[in-house]
Order: sequence, then structure tokens, then C-alpha cells
Amino acid sequence: MSGIAIIGAQWGDEGKGKLSHLLSERADLVVRFNGGPNAGHTVVDSFGEIHLHHLPAGALREGCLGILAHGMVIDPWVLREELQEIERQGRPIPQFLISERAHVILPYHKEMELGSGIAKAIGTTRRGIGPAYADRALRLGIRFADLADQDIVRDRLAHMEAAHRNPVRPPMDPERVAQELFEFYAVFKEQIGDSQGTVVQALDAGRTVLFEGAQGTLLDIDFGTYPYVTSSHTTVHGIPWGVGVPTARVERVIGVLKAYTTRVGEGPFPSEDVGRLGELLRERGGEYGATTGRPRRCGWLDLVALRYAQRVNGFTELAVTKLDVLSGLPEILVCTAYRIGSERREEFPALLSEVSTARPIYERLPGWREEIRGARTEEELPEEARAYIRYIEDALGIPVRIVGVGPKPEETIFR
Ligand code: IMP
Repeated sequence: MSGIAIIGAQWGDEGKGKLSHLLSERADLVVRFNGGPNAGHTVVDSFGEIHLHHLPAGALREGCLGILAHGMVIDPWVLREELQEIERQGRPIPQFLISERAHVILPYHKEMELGSGIAKAIGTTRRGIGPAYADRALRLGIRFADLADQDIVRDRLAHMEAAHRNPVRPPMDPERVAQELFEFYAVFKEQIGDSQGTVVQALDAGRTVLFEGAQGTLLDIDFGTYPYVTSSHTTVHGIPWGVGVPTARVERVIGVLKAYTTRVGEGPFPSEDVGRLGELLRERGGEYGATTGRPRRCGWLDLVALRYAQRVNGFTELAVTKLDVLSGLPEILVCTAYRIGSERREEFPALLSEVSTARPIYERLPGWREEIRGARTEEELPEEARAYIRYIEDALGIPVRIVGVGPKPEETIFR
């Protein structure tokens, strides 16, 4: 058996899509276990560039089965568009399985999110993620298995309508929504099934299973900068929760981090640079949201946050992405501790007012001038870039196995 997890170590957008697509070359199954269309996993290959919102990146490979596990919330309307885009690009139609226990995102979940003020306050992706998970917890949700029973769907929609009726929101038309769900079911019923059983059987048979995390550790509902987080479990702990396999079956836990830090949406970000550096990183790194197009906030690498991510996830190795974006900078700063009030702090705080007022304490490292997108081995990197990678390894006590030097699959160094 071989289970490999790809987990975001920062606030998401670390380049997990590219990595998942690369590693899926040797995988039989690729599993998304959390979130939904709030993710925008970018893959660049011979067909062009595509942003996937539900399907795991590996599902783009023939022979690799994509699993949308029960920890996800899935918008059937967006999923259909995603499949149409894949077809439009002339790609092979992916093989995928939707968990019968995954919950459906309904149009009214998006309206609820917009109407509640939460979307603006947190800076959500406005995809209805929070309300869909909330309805699941309230036991009002509709699961994909339920689509086989029209009475259950109608009954559940009526309950939701009554529970969330709001005079300022246009009322949902339950019958129209029900009909669209039944149409979806008629087309996709063969792709709805027991994802937990499928994954466990694959592991038992010695197949390679890749678990593709969405968002990052600091957006986790429990471990993140609450309430500025998403509504699911984005860490390695999301795998037992969202797939139903024990963590012990995940042998490798790859922590993915950018060579700097970004965050999209509201919430604290101690090493954020709102000046020229932030702008430079955004422009050079193309730091605009793949789902919403929003400019991402940018800053230096934050080791306080990364040590915390390491503690939470127990990474066995690291992948550092977008190292090329730092080329040409005379020096590189790394946040090694926070100043909160008059105290120096090494640990990532839980209290929002502490993270919000934390000032970074930086160490300065030499930069490098050369462009590095052409480097294919570690030896081809300038000494300062190699030293930066070694510095990250030493600081976190785990090997960096993969270094990204550009968006294309070949722009990757395996160490
Ligand atoms: P939601 O997941 O749409 O509810 O948004 C909650 C927070 O998570 C917001 O700050 C979003 O910007 C952020 N977020 C959600 N998905 C992603 C992602 O895939 N990458 C980066 N940030 C995300």
C-alpha cells in the first residue's frame, strides 16, 4: 500500500495542482478530500492551462481515477462546467467517482453566503462553501446518494427553505432546483458511489493513492486563523475525516510551500508586505486567484507559521514552489519569530488579536541574480538559491525533495 498526501503548508495556492498532476503519473487514484469549488488547482500541460475546481488534478491522466470524497461539498452546476471545459480543450474525459456521502452545494447556499455579510467580512470565494457545510451539520443537507430518491430531495429542500427563509432574499424555487438535480443524477448516476470502499480496496491491493489537499493549513477550520478560515479540514487530518481511511495508511505527507507567502481574502498575515516587495511578488508570481481573480496579498516566508504547519501535519518531506519568483532580489528575508507587544514569540498564536498584531522578526539571506527557470538539477541553481533551500530544510528539520522553478511540469527539480 502507498498513500501519499499533498498538503498546503500556508494559506493555500502553494502549487498543489501542479504537484498532484506531476505525481499522478505514478498513481492509480487521486483523491480530493476537503473543500469544493473554492479551490482552483492549476495544471499546465500539452493541452494548455486549466483551473480545476472539483476534480483532482490527477484525474486528467488516462488510467488515473479521480475521487471526490465525502469530505467535499460539490456544486453539480460548476462540476458540469468543469467537465465541459475539459472537453472544450480536447482533453480525454476524466474517470471519476463522486462519493455518495458528499453533500451538494445548492444555488441558495451561494445566495445565503452573499446575503449574510460573511462573504465580505471573511473575503470568501462566494462559492457557497460555508452554508453547504453548515446545512450538513444542521442535518438539512442533500447528499449525492439522496438524489436517487426524489421524495427525500423534495422534503430536504422544503426543510431548508423553511429553516433559512429570509425576507430580503428572493425565495428559492424548490421544484426547479429539484428538477435540475434529477437531471444531473440521470446523467451522472454511474459516477456516484462508495468512495471510501474504493480507496480502501485500492490501498489493500497495493495501489498508489494520492490525496490532494485543497486550501492550506492556516485556512483549516480548527488549526487556521479562525474565523478567517474555510469551513473544512485542510490538513492531513482531513484525510481520515473526509475519506474514511486511517492516517496510518498515509505513508508520505508532502508539505507544499511557496518560497514566499501569499494569502487571498481577509485575515491576519504577519509577514505581509503592502509596499513594493508585495507588488513585485504579485506581478512576478502572477498572484491572482485562480477561482476569483482577486489579487493575492504577498510577503516573505514565515517560519513561525511553517513550524506550526509541520507540527500539525507531521510532514515527511517538503516541496518548495515558485523559487524562480525570488530571482533578482538582492536579499531575501525570512520571518523567524514574531514580536507581539513587547514579547518575542516563536509559536503561532491561536488568539486572533495576537496574530493580527504580530510583527515579523526577520533574518536576512543573500539573494541571487540569475534566472533559474532553466535549471533541472540542484547543481544548476546558483549557490544562494541552494543555500535558501538548505536553510528551509534546517529550520523545519525535514528534507526538501521537490523544488519548483516555473509553472510547467518540466520546470521542477527532484532532489
Ligand atoms: P471559502 O472557502 O470560500 O469559505 O473562503 C474562506 C477563506 O478561505 C477566504 O479567505 C478565501 O479566500 C480562502 N480560500 C478558500 N479557498 C481557497 C483556495 O483554494 N486558495 C486560497 N484561499 C482560499
